[in-house]
Amino acid sequence: MIKIAILVSGSGSNLQALIDANLSGQIVGVISNKPEAYALKRAEKAGIATAIIEHKQYPNREAFDAVMQQQLLAWDVDLVILAGFMRILSAPFVQAWQGKMLNIHPSLLPHYKGMHTHQRVLHTGDVWHGCTVHYVTAELDAGQSLAQGVLQVNIQDDVSSLAKRVHQLEHLIYPQVVEWICNGALQHTHQGVLYRGQALQQPVQFCNF
Ligand code: GAR
Repeated sequence: MIKIAILVSGSGSNLQALIDANLSGQIVGVISNKPEAYALKRAEKAGIATAIIEHKQYPNREAFDAVMQQQLLAWDVDLVILAGFMRILSAPFVQAWQGKMLNIHPSLLPHYKGMHTHQRVLHTGDVWHGCTVHYVTAELDAGQSLAQGVLQVNIQDDVSSLAKRVHQLEHLIYPQVVEWICNGALQHTHQGVLYRGQALQQPVQFCNF
């Protein structure tokens, strides 16, 4: 059974969706860089081990990441899931988890990498918006995309309605992608990413118009 660790910084609604999905892998631990993150309460309620590793207590990214790495090795983790984890990771850490670390980002990558995605979508007047599950690589929000949830922006949408609608899509697609990895439907190989035995040419799309 695949052992999963989830890294969080905030509310943890994606963590909750992953807990509620009854994955065929096991969530063995949750790490937060913020002691006040509500995600920690969700993990505790679900009986999952937690670790608080405050980035502020370390002199640089490498030192912080090294402590996270120790914890992940102690939990014997196979797969690392970033779920609202708001820290940029160092190159050695990313390298160690190449092909074994996923992130979810609130935009249709490669559009709108970085912060404030909903504002930027509204400002540009885009018709389509959504979220992307992707592998984590050294470059921010640039690893291969595995799945996208797509929605149509309505004339009445504002930042908070878009955030809510994108969150709903995230809660649908993140557990699905993680389950595909747990049950072997999605594989990271030396030849590239395979989805149901075929090379994944573009992210699997989930639409919610
Ligand atoms: C999610 O919307 C996720 O896409 C975003 O943080 C939110 C966390 O919500 N992640 C990023 O912006 C990463 N660049 P949650 O704590 O309720 O799961």
